[in-house]
Amino acid sequence: MSCANQVRILDVSPRDGLQNEPQTVPLAVKRSLIEHLVGAGLKAIEVTGFVHPKWVPQLADASDLCVTLPDCPGVSYSALVPNETGMRKALECGQLDQVAVFTAASEAFTHKNINCSIDESLERFQPVLAMAKNAGLPVRGYVSCVLGCPYEGDVPVEKVREVTERLLDIGCGEVSLGDTIGVGTPEKARHLYLACREVADASQLALHFHDTYGQALANIYACLQEGAQAIDASVAGLGGCPYAAGASGNVATEDVVYLLDGLGIEHGVDLQKLAACGQWISQQLGRDNGSRVGRALAG
Ligand code: HMG
Ligand code: MG
Repeated sequence: MSCANQVRILDVSPRDGLQNEPQTVPLAVKRSLIEHLVGAGLKAIEVTGFVHPKWVPQLADASDLCVTLPDCPGVSYSALVPNETGMRKALECGQLDQVAVFTAASEAFTHKNINCSIDESLERFQPVLAMAKNAGLPVRGYVSCVLGCPYEGDVPVEKVREVTERLLDIGCGEVSLGDTIGVGTPEKARHLYLACREVADASQLALHFHDTYGQALANIYACLQEGAQAIDASVAGLGGCPYAAGASGNVATEDVVYLLDGLGIEHGVDLQKLAACGQWISQQLGRDNGSRVGRALAG
């Protein structure tokens, strides 16, 4: 199998990148981050999540943010919706192009994260999918813990494949495979990706790899060699999961873009502008830039 000619990048930094920030990030900074990402050529951005503010206080401004999103034709804005309540709020804003439901391949993580079993989560998603269909919005489904769980340890590939298939069966157009705690290594990632390809086309799968153990880029490369077409990433490597202690951010978008450039794969992102965005948001948050490429370009 050879690499795709073109890869879609979803920058998840405004949601996954910021959801675990201890200090409240002002709405104006979130909006500027999105503007910078659009300016760098990102065509898909996960802007927030309509989740319970008690559990994820950083995203309590989801509705306020979504009604002021910059109007950018050709850019797809998406948000997490865990249930009907979240979906109703998302629809009220009227500015989203896609929503995402999220579950896991681990029962323990699903309980901690969304307070239900995997089966219950899929039941809860059915009305969400019906509402999205009515509104003409595509839905992506996330599977967390695809290469390991903070509570259960190893997660069987068969379980990930099963949950992937069930998400597609209930109407998700795309499934994103989340290595939530970044424990995967390349051959495991390749094996997982190929197992999921048994139930999904390449166009229906995305890679969502966190970089806790520094393996995310290597894992992505292994899957690119098997034809992966979509990658989730976070500018400056921002992020972490509130339900997975110690989990670091997603793979940095700058690092993914640099890898794709080296492989001659099209992505549509301006690396210099993206790196400037990464430097800017790191300064705003008072953090070191988590992108190796971003740091190298900053000199
Ligand atoms: P619950 O407590 O089971 O919900 O929470 P409930 O239906 O029992 O309702 C309880 C109360 O919550 C009610 O209010 C509801 O109205 C309210 P009350 O009547 O008591 O006043 N409620 C809500 N409020 C706001 N927004 C909502 C909502 N739903 C109910 N959507 C729930 C279930 C899922 C809402 C909760 O557990 C939650 O918000 N969890 C947060 C999950 C989260 O955001 N996790 C981080 C993102 S996932 C991730 O990072 C992984 C990913 O990146 C992939 C990867 O890396 O693997 C995607
Ligand atoms: Mg994540």
